[in-house]
Amino acid sequence: MRSMWQFLGALIAASSLGLAQASSSTLETEEDVATALKSYGVNTAAINTLRSAGNKSTEVACQTACSSLSHLYGSQVLSPDTTAYNNFTGAFWSVQQEEVQPRCIFKPSKNTEVSAVVLVSRLTQCPFAAKSGGHAAFAGASSSPGGITIWFTDMNEVTLNADKSVASIGPGNVWGMVYEALAPYGLAVIGGRASSIGVGGFTTGGGISFYSNLYGWAIDNVESYEVVTASGHIVTATENKYSDLYWGLRGGGNNLGLVTKFNLYTVPSPLMYGDTRVFLETEFDPVINAFVNIVHDAPNDGNAQYYIAFLSTGGVNIASAELTYVKNVSNPPIYQQIKSIPAVSDNSTARTLVQYAEYIDSDNPYGLREVYWPISAYLNEEFAKWTVDYFFSVLPQVANVTGAQPVLVYQAVSEPMLKNMTKYGGNALGLEASKGPVHLMHISFWWDNASDDDTVYNWVGSFWDTVLAKAKDMGIYNEWIYMNYASQFQNVIAGYGAENKARLQKIAAKYDPQGVWQTLQPGYFKLTHAPVVTSP
Ligand SMILES: Cc1cc2nc3c(=O)[nH]c(=O)nc-3n(C[C@H](O)[C@H](O)[C@H](O)COP(=O)(O)OP(=O)(O)OC[C@H]3O[C@@H](n4cnc5c(N)ncnc54)[C@H](O)[C@@H]3O)c2cc1C
Ligand SMILES: *[C@@H]1O[C@H](CO)[C@@H](O)[C@H](O)[C@H]1NC(C)=O
Ligand SMILES: *[C@@H]1O[C@H](CO)[C@@H](O)[C@H](O)[C@H]1NC(C)=O
Ligand SMILES: *[C@@H]1O[C@H](CO)[C@@H](O)[C@H](O)[C@H]1NC(C)=O
Ligand SMILES: *[C@@H]1O[C@H](CO)[C@@H](O)[C@H](O)[C@H]1NC(C)=O
Ligand SMILES: *[C@@H]1O[C@H](CO)[C@@H](O)[C@H](O)[C@H]1NC(C)=O
Ligand SMILES: *[C@@H]1O[C@H](CO)[C@@H](O)[C@H](O)[C@H]1NC(C)=O
Ligand SMILES: *[C@@H]1O[C@H](CO)[C@@H](O)[C@H](O)[C@H]1NC(C)=O
Repeated sequence: MRSMWQFLGALIAASSLGLAQASSSTLETEEDVATALKSYGVNTAAINTLRSAGNKSTEVACQTACSSLSHLYGSQVLSPDTTAYNNFTGAFWSVQQEEVQPRCIFKPSKNTEVSAVVLVSRLTQCPFAAKSGGHAAFAGASSSPGGITIWFTDMNEVTLNADKSVASIGPGNVWGMVYEALAPYGLAVIGGRASSIGVGGFTTGGGISFYSNLYGWAIDNVESYEVVTASGHIVTATENKYSDLYWGLRGGGNNLGLVTKFNLYTVPSPLMYGDTRVFLETEFDPVINAFVNIVHDAPNDGNAQYYIAFLSTGGVNIASAELTYVKNVSNPPIYQQIKSIPAVSDNSTARTLVQYAEYIDSDNPYGLREVYWPISAYLNEEFAKWTVDYFFSVLPQVANVTGAQPVLVYQAVSEPMLKNMTKYGGNALGLEASKGPVHLMHISFWWDNASDDDTVYNWVGSFWDTVLAKAKDMGIYNEWIYMNYASQFQNVIAGYGAENKARLQKIAAKYDPQGVWQTLQPGYFKLTHAPVVTSP
């Protein structure tokens, strides 16, 4: 064992060297871990001994990986059957993620330690996953069953540059922490609408914020990403440097690296105004008409941001519209139509961004079984009405699922959002403004018992099968799937279109020729397939 500890000590030194080397020369792409380490003067004979002695089972691989990490990092590694470990696993948003039992949890305190854990995983072949805010719903997305779960919690810096135009944000932050840190300066960044959403998943998959009709999505307001590549190098990807990586990280999820710092453009953050306005079924048609009109009006007033949730509560079908405005204005013209429709309740008030994100968060309790599952289509009022009718017509099929709360949510990827996706060289999503606003729909569904999982997944899957067939019939089908809402059964990257998928694969082949992010980090949306889980 002694030689392994020595080797790993050298490896940590090597990963610091990697930082220096990567910033002064071009990134090496063809080398495997052993060659990389050799070039840093590490005795690779020790590695080879370790490798050939290795039992290939994941269990043994991860025992080796976790005890190595423990030896090197002590209390930064959490082991099963400890309070700290149980606190961690118990703190995911969905129960499916809480049930995952990693072999160990590693809390890096700086970027070189993220490099080190990636190299340890490569060396031992122990799989890993990484958690930022932990809001992905399905098992394995941000915690590794039997493997290493990287927990970014201690990498939680929020700092401003000299002219306050860019905030540097560690992946250990959730948006509530970021907004609180920036509030004293009257600033914000393009972040989540619920305070407990993490910066990491949000800003690699998309990111719809209260400000998105003014500035676009989170991924379209990133000055640069500091990222650990598969070789353990740390590079800063911008529009002009590592521009292929920068493009791919804007929507490519965790397929190209682990982001250790998000440098985000700041925006002014005045007091906000918002209404939660609730309508009965008799008003659904006018509400959907108003929704379509508000989306078309987005180019005229970007302060407005909105979603409408359709659900049944206490046997009553309702539509609950969340109408926000990023200025302290209670009755802006853009909301005139929807606010003239009779409502059963209207909770309207001015709030700071911090308060608004807390308010939204309180509607999304922790500790339930959860699925999020989106589709998209080009915005069409008739289709939007048909889908709501169809949703309520099939709700009785899941009425006997204990604790069931299925919700159909309507949002839009509006023209200003789409146009902003072309900023700084564009993003990976494959959406174009020329085809008009996109109607983003998702089901969010919570329930109590694992025994109902298959019933729920099958119901949502067949609901969308029917809706997508209708969209195809109407000629408004859009293959794009929003990663941040996607279920474990969806092949998100395929939905970015053949060209963008091929471009992402080419970038991955350059920076990750061994497919580390594809094979050793299997739990999320991969370049060629949906997450690896047992399908119903
Ligand atoms: C209640 C609720 C409200 C939401 N509100 C919004 C909203 O307003 N707008 C919106 O657009 N979306 C929203 N979402 C969706 C949200 O964007 C996604 O769930 C997102 O993935 C959450 O990020 P996270 O860091 O919390 O998730 P995690 O589960 O921690 O991470 C998700 C994935 O990203 C990877 N990842 C995390 N950090 C990094 C990193 N630093 N580098 C590389 N990969 C990383 C993880 O490994 C994992 O695979 C909401 C979701 C929920 C449940
Ligand atoms: C590897 O380890 C597993 C689990 O400890 C064990 O069941 C298996 O027999 C071992 N295989 C070899 C080839 O040693
Ligand atoms: C576990 O969580 C409890 C409750 O939040 C907290 O008081 C305690 O300090 C935590 N313990 C560890 C070891 O993280
Ligand atoms: C917000 O607007 C209301 C109505 O115009 C006004 O009374 C209130 O003072 C404003 N609040 C702030 C902090 O500007
Ligand atoms: C209305 O908003 C207030 C203040 O945020 C909150 O306490 C209350 O629960 C809300 N009511 C409804 C019906 O959402
Ligand atoms: C729930 O209802 C569905 C359809 O109405 C039925 O097929 C299913 O067997 C029911 N399940 C239970 C557990 O009652
Ligand atoms: C982004 O959206 C804003 C608000 O509509 C708009 O003024 C701006 O021109 C858009 N940016 C681009 C690059 O289209
Ligand atoms: C479902 O959960 C409820 C509440 O936790 C429990 O009472 C019930 O027995 C469970 N039913 C099944 C079929 O597991």
